[in-house]
Amino acid sequence: MCGIVGAVADRQVQNILLEGLKRLEYRGYDSAGMAVLSADARLSRQRAVGKVAALEEKLQASGLRGHVGIAHTRWATHGRPTENNAHPHQSGDSLAVVHNGIIENYEILKADLEGQGYVFLSETDTEVIAHLMSREVSRHDDLLSAFQHVVDMLNGAYALAVTHADYPDQIVGARKGSPLVVGVGIDEAFLASDPLALLQVTDRFIYLQEGDVARLTVGGNIEIFNAGQSVERPSAIFEHGDGAVSRGDYRHFMLKEIHEQSQVIANTLEGRLGDRHVFTRILGAEADDLLAHVKNIQIVACGTSYHAGMVARYWLEKLAGIPTQVEVASEYRYREVVVPEGTLFVTLSQSGETADTLAALRYASQKGGYLASLAICNVPGSSLVRESDLTLMTQAGPEIGVASTKAFTTQLVALLLLTLALRHVRQGDDDVQARLVNALRELPRLITRGLALDSAIETMSAAFAEKHHALFLGRGTMFPIALEGALKLKEISYIHAEAYPAGELKHGPLALVDSDMPVIAVAPNDELLEKLKSNLQEVRARGGELFVFADEHVAINESEGVHVLRMPAVDDVIAPILYTLPLQLLSYHVAVLKGTDVDQPRNLAKSVTVE
Ligand code: AGP
Repeated sequence: MCGIVGAVADRQVQNILLEGLKRLEYRGYDSAGMAVLSADARLSRQRAVGKVAALEEKLQASGLRGHVGIAHTRWATHGRPTENNAHPHQSGDSLAVVHNGIIENYEILKADLEGQGYVFLSETDTEVIAHLMSREVSRHDDLLSAFQHVVDMLNGAYALAVTHADYPDQIVGARKGSPLVVGVGIDEAFLASDPLALLQVTDRFIYLQEGDVARLTVGGNIEIFNAGQSVERPSAIFEHGDGAVSRGDYRHFMLKEIHEQSQVIANTLEGRLGDRHVFTRILGAEADDLLAHVKNIQIVACGTSYHAGMVARYWLEKLAGIPTQVEVASEYRYREVVVPEGTLFVTLSQSGETADTLAALRYASQKGGYLASLAICNVPGSSLVRESDLTLMTQAGPEIGVASTKAFTTQLVALLLLTLALRHVRQGDDDVQARLVNALRELPRLITRGLALDSAIETMSAAFAEKHHALFLGRGTMFPIALEGALKLKEISYIHAEAYPAGELKHGPLALVDSDMPVIAVAPNDELLEKLKSNLQEVRARGGELFVFADEHVAINESEGVHVLRMPAVDDVIAPILYTLPLQLLSYHVAVLKGTDVDQPRNLAKSVTVE
């Protein structure tokens, strides 16, 4: 999704801004641009369609330089990805604006501005902000009060940064519904939509809150206001270090992140496992009392995070005996929901900034009647974390590949910890918890063994490269894993993939099965194995080619049209976490064979901050 970088310093900032844009490339974008103020307060701008490298060429050719500036990567919402629509947008020669999000009332504002003689050069909603700023700067004594006035006129979601030639020592920024952080430097200050953009210049950040407006001035002065009042916001050190955002020796971030899973799962478990049970304090000091009152759970999430929620539903009902509903946030937020008594409202999100998930949380808070809200999230300081009553952080570290991998498996781990904490609060110690705590302790080692299948899966992937469709099957907790496998394959290889609970096959999708439709099945040694085997027979009988990821001890053997890859034996409760790995690796290798842009697949964004 769109990215913002801004800087005010005594030194020249164009390279800092450019490096920031490169670090934001993973979020997905289709054009990029930069505007800076030179020492003699002249505003210069360059924009380019396509990759940041195209902008870099233009910047070099133009010799653009300055000590104050803003830059942007755009992911088209209003208007096509053209140079005219790329940010920064200007009004006249003095003022430039970058914007993430959507201005919902832009048509009314635009009509009004056109009536006053302003001429629009782009199809974007953002250009209204440029013209509004131009008008208000002429009516106010300083940039900040003009900006505050403009912000008050905007409906919708935004993170904004503005620079103006009449105020050559500052930039102003604001957030409402889209993330924006202030990077604290020594005698210099920065703005970005994601701290990762600024790790080359600082590791200290102020996470702006909803409705905050900030003014950054040369010399490193940072002022923050909310509703017109000056406010103090704490700064925090970004803990993961700059190394976490480099690819190292891996060809793609996605592959690196797949191979990090053993370590990040160990990190997510750290300090949370007792000898025979999960510590209930994983949700904070008062959690024992609150957890004891949970009678229902409502999970809300999008995409891959939604699939994690679907797995958790099986766990929460079976192991904690708590009725659980799971829904995609974009539906939940617009539905008239009935809230059963004692409902814990759980959101799942890697980024903590997904617009629909955040809106669902706000809808739930407004509606009331929930016991509490809990965010299971990977980004400390994100909107979801700040706005929830309780948090359970995954420790996946920064995830750069658009296709979510380690964030998903750490979400599963966190959800299993939550399940076991709820069971413990209800019935104290028991052997099931002791067994699963043990299995969780073993999990990082098991993940390493699972990842050792990488080259066998790479060989298998050749069978998919020329296919146009694929079908994934699983039963029980393996059904959401099949859904996740299908999502991964379509997301990065652009092969159309569907997933079904295997028992549904004969109710329709079996009609699709022929020798051109590879069928992938996940077959741990669980109580549904025999049922799954019958479903696989149904596929074979129709000439379908089977690719089965099966427990090393189950009797599913290789034969003509049946390819079996043996997985390490695993407790069937833990199996969904382990069986995710081969599906991630399969989609990765198929995408590499197809030559797609694995880390930044077409049309997609890492953090979906618009509806
Ligand atoms: C997964 O590979 C996706 N890119 C996507 O489905 C993602 O999981 C979804 O957009 C939700 O994101 P979140 O976890 O950051 O809220």
